[in-house]
Amino acid sequence: MNEKELIESGNMKMEWARNHMPVLAIIREQFIEEKPLKGHTIGMALHVEAKTAVLVETLAAGGAKVAITGCNPLSTQDDVAMALDTRENVSCFSRYGCSSQEYYDAIDKVLDFEPDITIDDGADLIFKLHTERTDLLPNILGGCEETTTGVHRLHAMDKEGALKMPVIAVNDAMTKYLFDNRYGTGQSAWDGINRTTNLLVAGKNVVVGGYGWCGRGVAMRAAGLGANVIVTEVDPIRALEARMDGYRPMKMSEAAKLGDIFVTTTGNRDILTAEHFKVMRDGAILANSGHFNVEIDMEALASLAKSVRTVRQNIKEYDIGNRRINVIADGRLVNLAAGDGHPAEVMDMSFADQALCVRHIAENKLLNGVHKVPLELDTYVAKLKLESMGISIDEFTLEQEKYMNGWECGT
Ligand code: ADE
Repeated sequence: MNEKELIESGNMKMEWARNHMPVLAIIREQFIEEKPLKGHTIGMALHVEAKTAVLVETLAAGGAKVAITGCNPLSTQDDVAMALDTRENVSCFSRYGCSSQEYYDAIDKVLDFEPDITIDDGADLIFKLHTERTDLLPNILGGCEETTTGVHRLHAMDKEGALKMPVIAVNDAMTKYLFDNRYGTGQSAWDGINRTTNLLVAGKNVVVGGYGWCGRGVAMRAAGLGANVIVTEVDPIRALEARMDGYRPMKMSEAAKLGDIFVTTTGNRDILTAEHFKVMRDGAILANSGHFNVEIDMEALASLAKSVRTVRQNIKEYDIGNRRINVIADGRLVNLAAGDGHPAEVMDMSFADQALCVRHIAENKLLNGVHKVPLELDTYVAKLKLESMGISIDEFTLEQEKYMNGWECGT
């Protein structure tokens, strides 16, 4: 495709996403009318694909100047990035398949805009702000963080007294993690795996590493596709929950021998290591759905391998002598590196949370540290989503409210 065709393709993807993001559309209308972000510059490092582009245009509609780059070298869709870059008050610096150096250079380019509000997915932008670009910190009003891994990183910074700005943990909003992490990852991870492998899931042993919200979603959809689901966990309560949800919790050392497809969702490193590769079935398929590419020890796999070849687009086969192990998208997050990310209807809520939190930062002076999403914003997003789905729900009667707030009434 030439440049014009790429921009057209990006615009069409954005139009499709926009038409399936009704909550963000309402917020965009409010932003167009009220211009709450006028005079603000927003620096972003997010997965540059169509839904993210709809968030960017919403922020720009609110009066902000926006500079954006990617938050993963393999998740940018170049057509969307190019279409976004043509928009007024928007600059986009990401490119699919960039090197590590190019990735961090692009974050620098975003920071060169001297943003006063940031949005991260994984905290790489905030990390750079706190290491090489500390001169920019005094200008910062606050930031938003999209994902569990990023929030985890921010809490670690805060605990050490290293976090020098307010950040809202958007991931921890109920309208985010209960839907995006669970139903979003549950669907998009399988979308990525299925479109990449074109193999059957029914009847296979699927091993899900981690039973957080993402793991629950991946396990639930694996079961729906007819898999026998095994879950690995370190947390006894989550392992018990997985058991009672109908799955088989066990140690990874045991699961490694049984799995046909492995999906890691822990957010931690070294979930699948040399010890596991050596006992896996011939033809095992490995995919990671955690934010960073640290869950599958790719270095160990490469050093075990006698040969490596691309057997299908986005699948590398590692021949370790007596067995072949297939890795999707180099162990990078499968739903974006081998798919289009979460469904638009789910990102509608996550990015509505983001837009409202950016506004909250612009309109309030927050103290340094990690903040919760205000409950009223979270509830507002849920209400708008229900309305957009044509769903009405009950309200308490006065008597019910009195009953719920009282303690006198017993048997
Ligand atoms: N699209 C944009 N950001 C995403 C994310 N964090 N997860 C899945 N899909 C996305």
